[in-house]
Parts: sequence; C-alpha cells; structure tokens
Amino acid sequence: MKRVSSECMSDRSHHTEAVHGGLDPSELARYGVAIDTMLDFSSNLLPFGPAPSVRRAVESVSLDRYPDRDCNQLRDAIAKRYGVDRETLLVGNGCSELIHLVASAFVDSHRHTLIVGPTFTEYQRATRIAGGTVRFVTAEANDGFAVDVDVIDHAVSSQTSLKVVWICNPNNPTGQSVAKSDLVDLIQRHPHVVFVVDESYIEFAENTESLLDTEHENLVVLRSMTKAYCIAGLRLGFAKLPENLHRTLRGRRIPWSVNSIAQAAGVAAIQDVAYYNEAMARLQDAKQDFLCKLTARSLTPLASDTGFFLLPVNDASEIRKQLIAQGMVVRDCHSFGLDNFLRIAVLAPSHNRRLVAALTRLLSNSPSPNLTPPSLRDPRIQ
Ligand SMILES: Cc1ncc(COP(=O)(O)O)c(C=O)c1O
Repeated sequence: MKRVSSECMSDRSHHTEAVHGGLDPSELARYGVAIDTMLDFSSNLLPFGPAPSVRRAVESVSLDRYPDRDCNQLRDAIAKRYGVDRETLLVGNGCSELIHLVASAFVDSHRHTLIVGPTFTEYQRATRIAGGTVRFVTAEANDGFAVDVDVIDHAVSSQTSLKVVWICNPNNPTGQSVAKSDLVDLIQRHPHVVFVVDESYIEFAENTESLLDTEHENLVVLRSMTKAYCIAGLRLGFAKLPENLHRTLRGRRIPWSVNSIAQAAGVAAIQDVAYYNEAMARLQDAKQDFLCKLTARSLTPLASDTGFFLLPVNDASEIRKQLIAQGMVVRDCHSFGLDNFLRIAVLAPSHNRRLVAALTRLLSNSPSPNLTPPSLRDPRIQ
C-alpha cells in the first residue's frame, strides 16, 4: 500500500467535475444509441428492480404536502431494522448529500482529509469544495488492493491538521473490505479525527462486518439506500452518528431535501426483508456463475466482497466504447486512477452471459495485463 501522497494543484483546479457510473443520456446521445435498451453494468444497483411493495408505497404518497423534514417514519423503520437508536440517524438525499454535509461541517482550509484509495471520488470532491486539502493512502493492484491498516494509522498519526478519514467498506471500485476489529482499533486510537465509514455496498456483501452496532464519538457510518434497494432515481441514504456530530450536521441541512416519495419508498424497502433477502441470494448465485464463466475464458476478474468486481484489461476506455456500441455500459476506472481496469456490476444471468460473450470476442486478441495478484489465480475465485 502506498504511503501518504497529496493531491497536486492541477487536480484542484478541476474540483467541480465528477465522473460516475450509470447511464449518461448526454453521452449515449453523442454515440447515437438508445438509453432504454442499454444494459447498465456500471451502476452497482440490485439488478432485479425495487420490491412491488415499494412501487405501491410510492403510488400512495400525497403530493400536496411538504415532506417530514426529520424523516421520522423512515428513521423509525431503519432503527428497528438495524437495532439502533433513531436519534443517532440522519437521512439524506442520497448518501452523496451526507458526504457533502460531512465535508462542509468538518473540513476547511485548516482541517484536511485522508482518503483510503483508490475509491469513490466524491469524498475528494466534497473536501475540495469545502476548501480542504486531500491526502491519500492507496491500495495497489499488486497486493490485490488489500488495505493495510498500519499505513492508515501511520498517516493519521503524522498529520496534525487532519480532521476526517474516509474509508469505503466494502470499497468502490476494488470490492475489498477492512475487518471491523481493525477499524475499531483505528477509531479508538485517534479520538480527535472523524472516521467516515461508507457502507453503501455492504448489503451486497456476505462477509463484511458493519459498524452500525458500534458507538464511538468520532464515527460516522454512511449507507446509501439507492443501490441495495434499487431506488437510485429517488435518492436516499442515511448516516448513523453520535449526538455531538448529529447536532452539527443537522444544523447545516437543506430543509426538505428528502422528498415524500423517497421517504415512503425507503420505509417500504426497509420493511420488505423477504423480497430483498431473496434478491440478494439470487445476486450471489449470478455473481458466482458470472465469475466462473469469465475465468473459463481465461479472463482474470479480481475477487470482490460485493456486487461488482474489477477486470484487468489493456485499454479500458476503448473496450468500454466498443461495448456501448453493443448495448452494454461498463465503468472504465480511469477516474479512480486505474487505467487498466473495468468495473463490472453483476446483473441477471442472461445479461451477464451477453457481456461474457462480448468481452470474449473483444479481448481474444488482446490478453489482460498481468495485474492479477497470485491469490486470485485460485479457481475457487469468490
Ligand atoms: C461508495 C459510494 N458511496 C456513496 C455513493 C452515493 O450514493 P447515493 O446514490 O445514495 O447518493 C456512491 C455512488 O456511487 C458510492 O459508490
């Protein structure tokens, strides 16, 4: 894992631009392809749609009233589902709103951020918009993108103006997780630094341990609800945080940022445990099958704890373009600093087979770069 590095000035001048996955209507229009028929392997959403109960809840919302600013019903539902105190919960217009809220509250030109990368670029963008500087510790392909907690510990200890550490667990885009005990040790060793642990992809993971059930004065746990519940169009996420931090963030919110439809959908989704458990089990089966099919064609997907994985390729941007022409969008990882990787979300088995066939054709004349760590050459890849 690479030790601390700082952002360079040329990066800072671009702080308003963001690259994300998902179908981009403007880009697809430039290519002259229809958005409705595209298969989206770039968004990391549950591929089976929202529960029917969520659709019913959305239809019954009355549109002529302001939404509940405190999202009381939704906080009750989340509190019940995860066994946490509702007073520790703050709901946002997507996890993205909460990321920016955290940065705006705790970062400025004197208080900086450490990002455990390569990871979701919005932590960096939010820090810059808040006027702070970003430092990185970066996991590397040769180590299977494993995170070395001692490197983080050392980086935190040696930076006096550090206020926030961002850790995505499991991580986007590498799919790697950090053990709960390691995170708790770090959080306890540095009580004056706010640790933000983003668990937006944890519902897709079988073995990553959540920090929702831990209480620390310097811990913010973030969850997106758009991915695992497949309601990305509605925007919904929540934070769990102690009273001192809750008060600070609450005071900075935009009023009514979470609309009534999103709140009703969130309540229904949280309560429909049977639908989502069954869908996640189907996703795990589809993932195993997808990875086996790719490895059987001599491609080398990296092990991942969550519902997407990295695939090393020689020219990610070109392959992405060629796949769009065939009706499929994958994530080219250039904006994460990973030029030779695609990030691919698991979809339904028939769609995954389409991508395997297309990748096999495209990559048969261009073998993957040798970036696969030794442990992942095991045929029982997970
Ligand atoms: C790690 C991570 N956190 C948060 C988000 C934002 O989630 P939301 O759709 O809830 O704003 C994303 C979106 O891609 C993400 O990858």
